[in-house]
Amino acid sequence: MNTQMRRAAVAVAAGAMAVSLAACGSAKESGGSSDSSASSAKKGDAIKVGLLLPENQTARYEKFDKPLIEKKVAELTNNKGTVVYANAKQDASTQNQQVDTMITNKVDVLIVDAVDAAAIKSSVQKAKDAGIPVVAYDRLAQGPISGYTSFDNKTVGKTQGEALLQALGSKAKSGKIVMMNGSVTDPNAAQFKAGAHEVLDGKVNVGKEYDTKEWKPENANANMEAAISALGKKNIIGVYSANDGMAGGIITALKAAGIKVPVTGQDAELAGVQRILAGEQFMSVYKPYAPEADAAAELAVALAQGKSLDTVAKDKVDSPTDKQIPSLLVPVTSLTKDNIKDTVVKDGLYTVQDICTPAYAAACKKAGLQ
Ligand code: BGC
Repeated sequence: MNTQMRRAAVAVAAGAMAVSLAACGSAKESGGSSDSSASSAKKGDAIKVGLLLPENQTARYEKFDKPLIEKKVAELTNNKGTVVYANAKQDASTQNQQVDTMITNKVDVLIVDAVDAAAIKSSVQKAKDAGIPVVAYDRLAQGPISGYTSFDNKTVGKTQGEALLQALGSKAKSGKIVMMNGSVTDPNAAQFKAGAHEVLDGKVNVGKEYDTKEWKPENANANMEAAISALGKKNIIGVYSANDGMAGGIITALKAAGIKVPVTGQDAELAGVQRILAGEQFMSVYKPYAPEADAAAELAVALAQGKSLDTVAKDKVDSPTDKQIPSLLVPVTSLTKDNIKDTVVKDGLYTVQDICTPAYAAACKKAGLQ
């Protein structure tokens, strides 16, 4: 077996998206043409992938995204590729410095989940000028990126809005809802917000709405306290929260005021799933991280090796600075009490034991989770 075939065989075992990419590579080789760039011939499998994630207060990044990307890069490179990792802890200038360090360390390709999609633009350009292609991960970074992988983020917002309407039922206009959006530096937050408004506008009364600085749960908590004193606790009938981390801060404020109303979320964080079981949070949005992370690894490895992105990047998106960016947008699912088993448990994110700790044992039994 030559290296290409071995790579294809590993990819076959690794899943459908990997299959198509590897098949594309091997078809090219068997057709007699070699890899399209000279650098890839030099690099082969021993590539260095720089991975920059935006923060670590949200559980997904270091619990799922990072290990999944590392695993896929290893699979696609016969364990020869390495991932160099840094987390910006929500600081855009730290992230720009991290890009500089990655350039100095001569990574072959960068995967970047931007803290601030506009502030990262000059760094993306710098990387490109140094011959390092950039894959934007989850958030659409500005500047000359080579590929993008994320979820359908407008649909995330719509899914949250629809679930809130469902929870409110005929009472949707009987009081005020509070909307807690994400950070203005994150283009996803704008899409979640737009999707939610598309569904909610005209069907509910929005009493207060906030863009939450840095996506921080403590900021969401403070904003919720302010909303409660401004609107009065009897008038609040529901809260749109853009993610689970913020839902945690919001629910703490609601509980302290003795308010129990439907709250949305996103990310299917373990704490969020447990709050859903306990009836404290109405829903979350389950975004399967593996297909997103796998696609990012496949795009990065293909770019480093000078191969086509076509079989992975089936979509095209436009950023404020660039058009027709090869992309893959993964679909999402609304997560409520009813489908915990069919989503996060089935896909192996958590075991029933992870979720059903003693504090949640009764709720688990009631929901048929045992
Ligand atoms: C991600 C969410 C995450 C949020 C805060 C968004 O860009 O898509 O999954 O909860 O950032 O980090």
